[in-house]
Amino acid sequence: MSAGVRHLYVHLPFCAHRCGYCDFVTVVGRRAQHAAYVEALLAEFELERELLAPELETVFLGGGTPTFTEPGELARLLRALPEAPETTVEANPETVTPELARLLHRNGVTRVSVGAQSFTPHLLETLERRAGPDAVRAAVYALRDAGFDNISLDLIYGIPGQSAADLDHDLSAALALEPEHLSCYELEAKPGTRFAHAHGAELTRQSESMESYFEQVVARLVGAGYRWYETANFCRTPERAGGRDLRARHNLAYWWGRDYLGLGIGAVSTVGGARWRNAPRLPAYLAALERGERPEREDERLPAELKLRELVMLGLRLDEPLALGALAGAIDRDGVERLERLGLAVRAADEGRETLALTSRGRFLGDGATALALA
Ligand SMILES: C[S@@+](CC[C@H](N)C(=O)[O-])C[C@H]1O[C@@H](n2cnc3c(N)ncnc32)[C@H](O)[C@@H]1O
Ligand code: SF4
Repeated sequence: MSAGVRHLYVHLPFCAHRCGYCDFVTVVGRRAQHAAYVEALLAEFELERELLAPELETVFLGGGTPTFTEPGELARLLRALPEAPETTVEANPETVTPELARLLHRNGVTRVSVGAQSFTPHLLETLERRAGPDAVRAAVYALRDAGFDNISLDLIYGIPGQSAADLDHDLSAALALEPEHLSCYELEAKPGTRFAHAHGAELTRQSESMESYFEQVVARLVGAGYRWYETANFCRTPERAGGRDLRARHNLAYWWGRDYLGLGIGAVSTVGGARWRNAPRLPAYLAALERGERPEREDERLPAELKLRELVMLGLRLDEPLALGALAGAIDRDGVERLERLGLAVRAADEGRETLALTSRGRFLGDGATALALA
């Protein structure tokens, strides 16, 4: 296996409570176990570190709610992990006090992704979110005061009861905070969640109108000077960012099909032709690493054809044309021609290399358009 992985994901599963729509690997509370979990993460890091390149490009602490982790333990973890030019931490607004913001900044974090979701109280209630709009604003101000110049906000749209005017209000409120980056996700009813049980049928009924909500999101953010660089992701253009490229480099690594190492419960790794996922159970994870063993994990075969298909599917989510060269085997030529005829994709030659990109229309259709391009 290659010893050159440049992207590290670390999963911090603890949350203050479980939001009804969420199916991420989370654990509620358990403050007494935060120290043991960080210890286990560091033990797993030691077991796997030979896979990593001497210099990393990105580190991403995701959750769960990384900023709900006991502050002393979070700081210990950040200090022990390798440095990277982009080190992101996901944060829930209500956890971001001025002290916590300073702690993150002091310990090498360069980018914070704040889960705002909405700025409309009744929609936040539907989502069972604890933080109101003022908590989101306070979190962003605290991060700015601590020195952060790369803040991302997560928004969710398509919340039951959300009107187009509500969505416009959410986008305005988010833009007023001048984030460097925004992720806007259509709400999904994840099977087995309380939310799917209560609102699943409603989401299915409204799915048709979601295309116009998606278009509203893109029009508003592009109009405000953001680059729609990935299906659900936007960043300030270099002209509005002092020349900086503010795309999320960690996520770009996934979309470009780079190798990454994941640590913690439920974390996925893809290295060379192999992919594995750590088992999601906390007690077994802690026990294995206490014994100095790797945690239980599920290995997934990643045959070359599947990897190529993934590269096409993920690559077409981006706004940069995808070079087809090595991907030719995964492409259906007739499908691509149909996409072109329908105005959903364009082929071009860039310095002699054939490229494929979805048009705006194709990007709004998303996976439906991409499926046509696949062999
Ligand atoms: C790991 S999650 C949660 C991060 C953080 N704990 C929070 O709640 O803000 C990252 C993002 O995924 C999005 N997300 C989670 N569940 C979703 C769902 N069912 N549908 C759409 N987006 C979802 C949310 O925008 C969330 O901020
Ligand atoms: S949405 Fe965020 S805060 Fe809510 S349960 Fe999921 S990870 Fe935790």
